[in-house]
Amino acid sequence: MTDSPSRSGAFESAVDKRVEQFTESISFDARLFREDIAGSIAHANMLADQQLVSPAERDQIVQCLTEIGQELENGQFPLRMELEDIHMNIEQALIDRLGDVGRKLHTGRSRNDQVSTDMRLWIRDSIDRMDELLAGLQTSFVRLAQQDGDVVIPAYTHMQRAQPILAAHYFLAYCEKLERDRQRLQDCRQRVNQSSLGTAAVAGTSLDIDRDQTAGQLGFDGLLQNSLDSSSDRDYMIEFVFCLALVSVHLSSWAEDWILWSTTEFNLIEIPQEFCTGSSIMPQKINPDVLELTRGKAARVIGDLQTLFVLVKALPMAYNRDLQEDKPALFDAFDTVEACLTLAIPLVEGSRLKRESIRAGLDRGFLDATTLMEFFIKRGIPQRTAHHAVGQLVRQAMQQNCRLADLSLEDFQAFDPSLDRSIYDVLGIENAISKFRSTGSTCPEQVSRQLARWCERLELN
Ligand code: ARG
Repeated sequence: MTDSPSRSGAFESAVDKRVEQFTESISFDARLFREDIAGSIAHANMLADQQLVSPAERDQIVQCLTEIGQELENGQFPLRMELEDIHMNIEQALIDRLGDVGRKLHTGRSRNDQVSTDMRLWIRDSIDRMDELLAGLQTSFVRLAQQDGDVVIPAYTHMQRAQPILAAHYFLAYCEKLERDRQRLQDCRQRVNQSSLGTAAVAGTSLDIDRDQTAGQLGFDGLLQNSLDSSSDRDYMIEFVFCLALVSVHLSSWAEDWILWSTTEFNLIEIPQEFCTGSSIMPQKINPDVLELTRGKAARVIGDLQTLFVLVKALPMAYNRDLQEDKPALFDAFDTVEACLTLAIPLVEGSRLKRESIRAGLDRGFLDATTLMEFFIKRGIPQRTAHHAVGQLVRQAMQQNCRLADLSLEDFQAFDPSLDRSIYDVLGIENAISKFRSTGSTCPEQVSRQLARWCERLELN
């Protein structure tokens, strides 16, 4: 009794319907159809070159696979759960249409290398898509830096006001983080883009296949060299999902910032209303739900990474059916990050800083205290002494409810009688920010150099 191509003559009974449902993967691997068709066409071409099928048989197979691919593309191909997965659905259709010629396609190949090949092709494309989206978000941050980058905002450490920065400095910080995300994905791509096709079930094959030939057709950079390794490991998937998890962590902390920034208490930013939602009971509410969900969805992606780690932990060599469970986690991670980025790009580009409200609050928090301390250091006062003295001046200003710049020259001279009015050149936000000159810091010259660098990198004007 052979009720599916994978059920050989060894079986005496048909499969239990409940088992069929339990073991199917077509409900989530159908999206691999393009990769499966491409892999099968490459395999058929190789079989013909190696005289394992005739050129005429190859032509029939390729033609038929192309038709099946078209039907799948148009949603005209009925997917059958009892055939388990996308690989068997396509192969069975080939057999139904070509008879014995169709039965030759699986020569020298197993679903174990087939699945892994399809996944590698799928991830390779997904890395390229991710790169495009990440570059898109970098571009949005650059655009916002060009628009509102001149605004001075408070930088926070420990969520307490720390030092003044240019808003552009903040936006470009995300360009840097996203750039490393892109680099990590490119690095991962090198290991993903290796062919497992032809490693077959576990030990290879006795047939005279040519793995370099299929790898070349499919655009792989090289071959996995050990059939046991190739059919058993999912490290490339974990790496990819790790890269995605890091993207989602970057997005979540950006989202957290902007959720805070858009509160009445901070009042630093206006998020486009198309990206906000309301409340069913409080008519005044304009909520930053997209940002909140971006923050929340990072949990899912981190969970997907966890799923993959636990899935492969302590699996015996080599292929085990557990590995089928890799796909839902991987697809979910990609879909989630893709959805977040797709919204983040226009959200960032359409947001505007609230210049007046920011300006009005800037004199709170003694953002110029560090530059004052460094002014003393430049006069030869040891850092710890200067640190203590400025702390005392801050306390004095707090008591008088004024800025450091509002203290009298006598107040400063109480600490150092040789001080003159040049001390006021480092006080006040505008003065202070221009003093942060070290490489990578926030003074206008440094930031405009960085902005120019990003425009060049992203080919923007
Ligand atoms: N549906 C399976 C998966 O997605 C295909 C591989 C099955 N291989 C096997 N030897 N049963 O992983």
